[in-house]
Amino acid sequence: MARVTVTDTPPEATDLAAERLAEAITAGRREGRPVNVSLAGGSTPRASYERLASVVDDWEGVELWLGDERLVPLDHPESNYRMLAETLLERTGAVAHAVPTDGSAEQAAAAYAREIRQRVPAGPDGVPALDLALLGLGEDGHTASLFPNAPPLDVRGEICVAVHDAPKPPPDRVSLTLDVLRAAHQSLILAVGDEKASAVAGVLAGPDPGVPASLLADGPLELIIDRAAARELPVSATRTA
Ligand code: 6PG
Repeated sequence: MARVTVTDTPPEATDLAAERLAEAITAGRREGRPVNVSLAGGSTPRASYERLASVVDDWEGVELWLGDERLVPLDHPESNYRMLAETLLERTGAVAHAVPTDGSAEQAAAAYAREIRQRVPAGPDGVPALDLALLGLGEDGHTASLFPNAPPLDVRGEICVAVHDAPKPPPDRVSLTLDVLRAAHQSLILAVGDEKASAVAGVLAGPDPGVPASLLADGPLELIIDRAAARELPVSATRTA
């Protein structure tokens, strides 16, 4: 069952998400192994990555992946890689695996999947198992680039999937599949603001392909949300940070 942590303000939520990322990195380092983390795109996690840049100073053995990417050049204002570079990579020694966006979405999905298959250890079900998947939440309940009732959500047996006609522009994207997101040892959805309250309630209302993020709620999921995004939840469903 999903754990819900509510903070008073958005900055406290984004800082807490950064703390969870730092904890996952420390845990992997303590075990003397590489740590594989996928990171959300969009705008909410910007502050988390900026915070992370100030709390982690040793990036040796940390493999950063993108949970999804828009099919635009890596220096395009809409690129998730560019956002990550501005907020984290250019401020630290961290490096991230960019999605090769110079070809088709199908070519990008296949290439990124090959790289993940090579570098991310598989779990017992043969699916690459990330240490942590940090995800955002759209107002429609999408996460990564898995949109409501869209075919990419149903793809099984694959690591990445090409996305076209995304309701959130840009239309062409690449996303980790639901299989991979569900195989992560920890998944973390970060959402703040009143406009996310309905989607947050949808995540906890039971599995529904119309709310893709709800398909993660039966696994090791923590929702980190601020009070505004928690507005539609019963108090009993939440824990205050
Ligand atoms: C993307 C994101 C997407 C995002 C949500 C929330 O590439 O657009 O990965 O899944 O996390 O749409 O976006 P905001 O944080 O900007 O609200």
